[in-house]
This record gives sequence, C-alpha cells and structure tokens, in this order.
Amino acid sequence: MTDNQVVPDLAIRRGCPFAEPDGYDELRNSGPISRVRLGSGKESWAVTSYHVAREMLASEAMSIDRRHPNFPQLVPGFSKDIGFRASIGDMDPPEHGPARRAISGEFAQRRIEAMRPGIQKMVDELIDAVLAGPKPVDLVPALALPVPTILICELLGVPDEDRATFQARSATMIDLFTSPQDRMAAIGALLGYIDQLVTDKENNPTDDLIGRQVQRARANGEVDHKSLVELALTLLVAGHETTVNMIALGVVALLEHPEQLRMIQREPERMPAAVEELLRYCSILNPVAYRVVKSDITLGGVRLRAGDAVVALGTSVNRDPEVFENPDRLDIERTEGRHLAFGYGVHLCIGQHLARVELCVVFETLFRRIPDLRLAVPVEQLSFKSEAIAYGLNSLPVTW
Ligand code: HEM
Repeated sequence: MTDNQVVPDLAIRRGCPFAEPDGYDELRNSGPISRVRLGSGKESWAVTSYHVAREMLASEAMSIDRRHPNFPQLVPGFSKDIGFRASIGDMDPPEHGPARRAISGEFAQRRIEAMRPGIQKMVDELIDAVLAGPKPVDLVPALALPVPTILICELLGVPDEDRATFQARSATMIDLFTSPQDRMAAIGALLGYIDQLVTDKENNPTDDLIGRQVQRARANGEVDHKSLVELALTLLVAGHETTVNMIALGVVALLEHPEQLRMIQREPERMPAAVEELLRYCSILNPVAYRVVKSDITLGGVRLRAGDAVVALGTSVNRDPEVFENPDRLDIERTEGRHLAFGYGVHLCIGQHLARVELCVVFETLFRRIPDLRLAVPVEQLSFKSEAIAYGLNSLPVTW
C-alpha cells in the first residue's frame, strides 16, 4: 500500500439481504487482503480470502483487545466506551486460555445436547401461542427474540420473575436503532442487575453457569466478582443478537428457497447440514472478526505492521469461490469447506453448539408444525437491519 493509492470505503449495507455489500467483488479481485476505510474514518486491512482469514485468526501476532487505540472501529465510538470488558472475547493469550477453559465445559456438546428437550418444549410453547393468535404474526417478537433470551436467562440463572425486565433491557441494549444514551442506560441497568444477581449467587450458591463459576472461583481461592459480571454480560451480548438475527434471516432464506425447504421437511435429518449452509449463506456477522496487529507479520503476501487494524469480511470469506462452488447459491447439499461464521482459532465461538441446537430445533419445529408458512408481505418490503453489525430483520410478518 503506497500513500498515494486511493483507499476505498468499506460498505456494510447490503442491497439484497443475501448478497454481499457493494464493492466486495472488486476488493476480492484486488487480492486476499486490501486496505479499506471504515465508517469511523480509520483505515484498516480487510481480509476477503477464506484461507488468509484462517491464517489471520490462528496468528499469535493478532490481538483482540478492544482497548488498543488502533482497534478497528466500524462506526465512531461503537466498540469503545461500552462500560465493560467483553470477558474472554477481549482477552489475548495467555490470559485467554485459562479463562475460556473455566467455562468451556458449560458449552460442551454433550451438555448442550442435554438441553435439547427443554429447548424443544420452549419452542413448542412459543409456536402454540403463534397458532392460537391472530394472523399475520411477527415472528421476531413471537419466536426469534424469545428463544435465545429465555435460554440465556436459564443459563445465567435469572429468576422467572425478573425475565420480562431482563428481556426488555437486553432488547434495548442490542438495538442499534436505539439512541446511544438509551443504549448506555440499558447497559448500565443490566450491569447493575447482573451485579446484584452475581452477589445473590455469591451469598446463596445456585446450580447454574454463574452459580457454578462462583463456587469454582471460591474453591480455587480466586473470587473475582467483576469478572463474573463481565462474563454474564458477554454471554448475553454474544449469544443473543446473533441468534435472534440468524433465526429470522434463516426463516426468510428457507422461504425464498422452497425446493430446499421441501427437502428438509421431507427429510428432517438434513437439518444440521442445512443450518451450516444457512450460517454460511447468511453470514450475519460482517466483519466476522476484528483484530489489531501486535507484531509485524506477512499475511496473504502483504506486510502488516504492529498497530495496523485488520478485519475479516464474513460475507467474503464465506463466499470465497476458491473454497465454495457457486458461493452465492444456498445449497443444503453442499459438502465442501467449513464456513467461518463462528470464527476460527482460539476465539472460535464458544456458544456454537448451543446456537446450532437452537437453530435446528426452531427451523425443524416451525416448518413441521406450520408447513405452509409464508411471508405476509413481499420479500422486498421486509425491513432489514441494513447497517447493523449483526445483520438481521426488524420484523418478520408471516401467515399460513
Ligand atoms: C448464530 C449464532 C452465533 C454466531 C453467528 C456467533 C459468532 C461468533 C463469532 C464469529 C465469534 C468469534 C469472534 C472473533 O473471533 O472475534 C464468537 C465468539 C463468541 N461467542 Fe458466538 N456466535 C453465536 C452464538 C453464540 C452463543 C449462543 C453464545 C453463548 C451463549 C456465544 C458466545 C460467544 C463467546 C463468549 C465468544 C467469545 C469466545 C472467545 O473469545 O473465546 N455465541 N461468536
């Protein structure tokens, strides 16, 4: 990159919900990694190649610490000043490993599988309510939002009577359309609530994720109240908006591909593969990862200097034609390549098994119990979160 080269602005807005933002083809054609200007006005490297993104995410030369002054910011002020540290999502090795291992058992596949019957029951009850209510119905508040919210509440041990307030505050917190003041107020209120929740569990240990962490920390003589509060809030943020958006967008993607939907309805055992393909196709996180370079490194043939910002473009890496044949096609029978929708390397999504089970149960149950479900408005009239970081839908009116 020479100083007199023009640096293109990185688009985030998608014209079509299932297509890449404008300019990504040109970026990919100009090389596996190129210089872009982010919405914050700062420059960053943008990785478009699947293999280079894996190299980046596996590299010890990269830092995920948002407090670094050059950490990539999509929008001014967005990733800073949110008043809390994102627990393991903000830690580099060697601090990251022990903190992640302390909770990884909670998200192990076997443990998550044991939650499946409870998730199925919850989804059935939500769909009972949909079927009993008026048509059309907005599936965002009726299904996409409550599933991850209820699950996080169960995981964190939020008592039943507090769930409505908890849900309302977390909805405000993750809503990018909320004013920054309201958002900060919601974060402040949630931090206060979670602080109290952790204190209660310190006084009266409970058998849930946070309760078990309290006991583990106590047994090891390393009680750290603030870290537990940050962990709880991180799980809420990381596991909520992502799953809500993936449920809503996944429903639209399937409705837009009726032949593939019929295949899943006929052969529900195809659902796990369909969910993987939906994660790739929707690539709700774009960028999917943000880093700052800790020590000089060559990536994709380009020399990056310590202090450089780097992002991996989720939609690009998951549609890299070198890895995925006909990448713009939703194809649930695809066998090649693993998508990077859950990231890669040490920060690989810790909640991936939980997300997969939620998505499988929701899609399978919804299209089994309401087989002739259809959009209540033309797809062009759906309101997409076109500039949000986790791409999704504001509302999803359906009928049958
Ligand atoms: C469809 C749903 C989800 C998607 C697409 C998703 C995506 C991701 C991605 C891409 C990363 C890595 C980011 C990076 O490397 O910078 C990540 C990390 C993480 N995710 Fe998820 N996630 C989802 C659901 C969940 C759920 C349900 C939970 C927990 C309840 C969760 C908790 C986390 C945590 C704690 C991290 C940080 C892990 C670490 O730094 O070691 N996620 N997720």
